[in-house]
Amino acid sequence: MKRIELTPRLRAVADLVPAGARLADVGTDHAYLPAWLLQQGLIARAIVSDLRAGPLSRARETAAACGLEDRMDFRLCDGLSGISPGEADTVVIAGMGGETIAAILAAAPWTRREGVHLVLQPMSTQKELRQWLQESGYRIVLERLAREGETFYNILSVEPGPMPPLTRGELWAGRQDLRDPQTGPYLDQELRRAARIGEGLRRSETRLSRDRLERLELLIRELNEMKKEWEHGHGN
Ligand SMILES: C[S@@+](CC[C@H](N)C(=O)[O-])C[C@H]1O[C@@H](n2cnc3c(N)ncnc32)[C@H](O)[C@@H]1O
Repeated sequence: MKRIELTPRLRAVADLVPAGARLADVGTDHAYLPAWLLQQGLIARAIVSDLRAGPLSRARETAAACGLEDRMDFRLCDGLSGISPGEADTVVIAGMGGETIAAILAAAPWTRREGVHLVLQPMSTQKELRQWLQESGYRIVLERLAREGETFYNILSVEPGPMPPLTRGELWAGRQDLRDPQTGPYLDQELRRAARIGEGLRRSETRLSRDRLERLELLIRELNEMKKEWEHGHGN
């Protein structure tokens, strides 16, 4: 029987799934995440869904190789459209763009009902996703980082409800755990990204780029403050 090993990214996602969750893994592809959670005995069943038939058949192959076919429920559907409210209390949406994740949640207002827990792992447009969540009745409970080589991944644990507004820096980089040793290198990476955007804006002479540069400089100041707070906690 095949044993599933998770990459650091998927392992960090799995760590935020509560034991005993009634899980829906949206955009599951190979279904490695639910297969691992089932093999660890952390969940009893999972709904696994994908927009496309190819990935869903890969999910079936994983389930067959692991002997988990009768513990996974396969759904071919867009986002949560084929999953009824009440069928799942924990929804994972991982490995997709932030705007796609927001669109999937916007189309399923039941994800804002009390008792629903979301674990989101956007591959891009993280800032837009955080902004959308805070404007749409969701609360980011915590954020985690996972690192694979030079790439950092953001993982958000989200529940319905209001949250204190995120600052410019938190919208950009998340409200990260300042005790996590990965947070400093992650903030350095984000500072370099902001600096590169700043160089481009400085070369352009338009009024719009000057306004954007001013906002970017405020952001860089905030990211530096977050970095200093992290250093303080790490004895630097
Ligand atoms: C890069 S894979 C991520 C697989 C897995 N969740 C992970 O994190 O490793 C993205 C998957 O999302 C699926 N997908 C994209 N848009 C979707 C949507 N609107 N609804 C459901 N699945 C979607 C794709 O077909 C693909 O299988």
